[in-house]
Amino acid sequence: MSDAALPLPVPSPELQTRLATRRSAPAQALAAPGPTDAEIDAILTLGARTPDHGKLFPWRFVVLGPESRAELAAKLEPLADGQPDPKKARAVLAKLTVPPATILVISTPVEGHKVPVWEQELSAGAVCMNLEHAAGAHGYAASWITDWYSYAPAALALFGVGQGERIAGFIHIGTLAEPPLERPRPDLTTKVSRRR
Ligand SMILES: Cc1cc2nc3c(=O)[nH]c(=O)nc-3n(C[C@H](O)[C@H](O)[C@H](O)COP(=O)(O)O)c2cc1C
Repeated sequence: MSDAALPLPVPSPELQTRLATRRSAPAQALAAPGPTDAEIDAILTLGARTPDHGKLFPWRFVVLGPESRAELAAKLEPLADGQPDPKKARAVLAKLTVPPATILVISTPVEGHKVPVWEQELSAGAVCMNLEHAAGAHGYAASWITDWYSYAPAALALFGVGQGERIAGFIHIGTLAEPPLERPRPDLTTKVSRRR
């Protein structure tokens, strides 16, 4: 329903705490349990609820099940040899196979539209972040990664990324055995200026 009135924001200490403590998971550390199919649908619905200029929805999702990811990783292995550091390129393929669930976010900007491609790509990035939050809201840890296979043309073909499309990220979802450690955060005094 496009004209339905939505609730106005109310303070939510729980959401504030979640946002203040959210951390990316190392993809290889993501283990079962992962989201059920119904939870993945709910996570996608929340993830797609993302601002985009022009209502173009300039992104799409591919839910990659474990079987397809194992097949993809096998096909990516020989391509890893063409990377600057083949050993590392092979090693990171584990990020594709280990996590219980993966959502591939593909940016699908409309060229020549009055909304600049940059803004459409920003929306795809916002979708990735929203998916991370949605996964967290369902009690799962998540990891947003790209890695070399998001850029190698032969790899893009394997993922079905078409002309004019780009990979915004792989959102891996699962459960961490141990709480994540905090990482350095920017000193906001170097990032924020104020004008009156
Ligand atoms: C667009 C994007 C691409 C990323 N690609 C990779 C990657 O290829 N390999 C990797 O290890 N981490 C990747 N990361 C994750 C970051 O290295 C890092 O784990 C994350 O930003 C930590 O953020 P957090 O502590 O706020 O959760 C990527 C993150 C973003 C936003």
